[in-house]
Amino acid sequence: MIFDTHAHYDDAAFDADREELLGGGLQAGGVGLVVNIGTDLKTLHQTIELTERYPYFYGALGIHPDCVDGLNEEHLPILRQMLLEHKKMVAIGEIGLDYHGDYERDIPLQKKWFKWQLRLARELKLPVVIHSRDAAADTMEILKAEDAGSIGGVMHCYSYSVEIAREVVKMGLYIGIGGVLTFKNGRKLKEVAAETPMEQILLETDCPYLAPTPYRGQRNDSRNIALVAQELAQIKGITLEEVLRITEENARRFYKLW
Ligand code: NI
Repeated sequence: MIFDTHAHYDDAAFDADREELLGGGLQAGGVGLVVNIGTDLKTLHQTIELTERYPYFYGALGIHPDCVDGLNEEHLPILRQMLLEHKKMVAIGEIGLDYHGDYERDIPLQKKWFKWQLRLARELKLPVVIHSRDAAADTMEILKAEDAGSIGGVMHCYSYSVEIAREVVKMGLYIGIGGVLTFKNGRKLKEVAAETPMEQILLETDCPYLAPTPYRGQRNDSRNIALVAQELAQIKGITLEEVLRITEENARRFYKLW
C-alpha cells in the first residue's frame, strides 16, 4: 500500500478533477493513506474539508515559512483551536525556514513562527512536518534548542548534505524523500537515502510538485510514489514490496495511525 505522507490536494492544480482522482483514481493506483499538508492560515480549512470527505485522508495544519507575513502571536490560538477541534489532524506542518531566492523575507518572523509551532506541537503531543530550504544552519540550531527529537518530526523533501542527514537521524527525526530521488541530478539525495536507516525514511510526493522521472515537470500525485519506492529499493538492495511495507509502518508510527 502507498502511504503518501505529504500532499497538497487543496492546490488549484487539482481543481479540474479532484473528485475523480481522490474519489477513486488514487485508490485504484494502490494509494491507501494520504496526509494533506496545510501551508497558510487562510486555506487550512481546505485540508480539514478533504479529511471530512475522504476516509483515507488525514491532515496536518501549520503555517509555512513563506506564509508568515502579517501573522503574529495572536493568530497562534486560531491554529491551536483548529488542531484541537478536528480529530483527523495528525501533525503540525508544514513549518520551518525558507531562505530560498533573493526576495525579501522576514527571517526573524519565520524563526518566531517555527519556534511557536514547535512548542505548540509539544503541548498537543503532535509530530511536526518541517520545511527547510537554504536554511540548514538556522534550522538545525532551532531544532536542537527546542529538543525537536522529543517532539517527533520529519525533514520533508530533504535537500541537505549527508552530514546533516546524519545529525537529523541521530536526533531521532525522519527524512522525507520524494520524486527528487529519481532525478538525474539527485545524486546527493541518493547518498542520503543510502546512509539513512530504512526505519527513518518517509515517502512523500509534495504533489502537485516534484513528479518523479519520467513525469518530471508534470503534475504529481500519490500514485507516483511507486516510482520513488522502486528507486529506493534499488539503492537499498531490497524489494519494492519491502520498501512499501517498511515506509508504511514508519508513516503509521510517525502519525500514530494504527
Ligand atoms: Ni509541501
